[in-house]
Amino acid sequence: MSAQNPFQDPLRFERRVPECALVIFGASGDLNKRKLMPALFRLAYDRRLSAGFAIIGVSRSPLSDDQFRERMCEAVKEFSEDTQFEPDVWQAFAQGLFYLPGDIGDPDMYHRLGQKLSEIEQSRHTGGNVLFYLSVQPSQYARAAQGLGEAGLGSGNGWRRLVVEKPFGHDLESARALSDELHKVFQESDVYRIDHYLGKETVQNILAFRFGNGIFEPLWDRRYIDHVQITAAESIGVEGRGGYYQEAGALADMIQNHLLQVMATIAMEPSASFRADSVRDERAKLLRSIHIMSPEEVRQDAVAGQYGPGRIGGKDVPGFREEQGVDAESQTNTFAAATFVVDNWRWAGVPFFLRTGKRLPKRTTEISIHFKPAPLAIFNGQAAQMTPNLLIVRIQPEEGLSLKFLSKRPGTGMNLRPVSMDFNYGSSFGERSPSAYETLLLDAIIGDATLYTRQDMVEASWKVVEPIQQVWHSEKNDFPNYAAGAWGPKEADEMVARHGHSWREP
Ligand code: BG6
Repeated sequence: MSAQNPFQDPLRFERRVPECALVIFGASGDLNKRKLMPALFRLAYDRRLSAGFAIIGVSRSPLSDDQFRERMCEAVKEFSEDTQFEPDVWQAFAQGLFYLPGDIGDPDMYHRLGQKLSEIEQSRHTGGNVLFYLSVQPSQYARAAQGLGEAGLGSGNGWRRLVVEKPFGHDLESARALSDELHKVFQESDVYRIDHYLGKETVQNILAFRFGNGIFEPLWDRRYIDHVQITAAESIGVEGRGGYYQEAGALADMIQNHLLQVMATIAMEPSASFRADSVRDERAKLLRSIHIMSPEEVRQDAVAGQYGPGRIGGKDVPGFREEQGVDAESQTNTFAAATFVVDNWRWAGVPFFLRTGKRLPKRTTEISIHFKPAPLAIFNGQAAQMTPNLLIVRIQPEEGLSLKFLSKRPGTGMNLRPVSMDFNYGSSFGERSPSAYETLLLDAIIGDATLYTRQDMVEASWKVVEPIQQVWHSEKNDFPNYAAGAWGPKEADEMVARHGHSWREP
């Protein structure tokens, strides 16, 4: 295969990157500086963007194009973790960077944006294709869509797509209302709801592992799998986002979206093809099959926590209620755990234990699939034989898969011991993994929505989460109930213990 001829490279042939302009609303915000710009620069560095690719940053700060370029240059240097800064690549990239000062609430801004887009279409030959990215407060999403619609920017001579960051509403009703507003201007197929967990390399690899191999899928059900655990632990606190986080909490911030999507990827039925809607139909179907808890079940099978002061990594850290922007009596959950069951033939009776929290002992995200033990203990009833097989999908910080099984210890006796068969991304491929934002931005430019969340999935997730939220909001919690640096409140251990299990310590 010749690297010179792009048409002989199947990936490039199938996924031709079209010319387009990307409009980032909220361009002076943190997300743009920390994630979007470094990801876009990396795509440019890897020559993945088209020649005329252009970015227009929109926000209120009064900046010129050049001042914006300088700021973005600093951001790229500061936040590109593993991309070498090459001045030549930057120069070429920066020529496609533009800036428009303006307020989301000001109708005139959209008209000026329209003019700027026409100029750029002429000068950079973007073909009229525009990807709008809302990196602004969620309360401004509907206003932005309306402004684009009123200025006639929701359609044009090329394609128009809208990327929206979570949260998609704060409950089922508000999620539907938001979607109705967006749909006044953009069709559902042009709305790209980003869930950056789905862009993570190992989460995508779940699909390859399950559906690219023949040997695992026959084991992938209630006959062989005893239970599944998904842990997304963070050691950081709310990092200056106390105001937002106080409204959201861990359940809405992480479980409603990221962890339920990960669970859906683990548990969905095989899709008939790898087309976006085929995969998304299966994810959606799985989400709809999750049992909706009654208030009584919520009290048994969901646990809220909030951290108090404690120690992490040898340092004293304040409790959540002492964080900036947080109410001294806050009832917000910074830890959430729940036991979900899936009401379908494949999974009936198999608990999925999900937990997430801030200020836990370390940053780690993993899925562990706990298989049933061997049916007969023939090795003199050795305790080791009760150790079930375990498949661990490590999402971060390391990326890989481990399969734990029993092996005979060397020696004359028949002694068994658990051992591990490991696959590590780094050592197996010797290549860097793209960041989730690189993958997802490129997908949106190409028009591949496989890893994006559809409105029916958002609604199905809210239906699962809302009953929990309602019970938690209606009852006063005895917070704080775990010290920073602990693995959450003891009730989370008790919840799992009631099902006869314990959390795996990642
Ligand atoms: C975001 C949440 O969606 O995901 C944050 O709003 C959280 O609260 C973050 O810290 C975690 O992402 P990652 O990729 O660091 O696991």
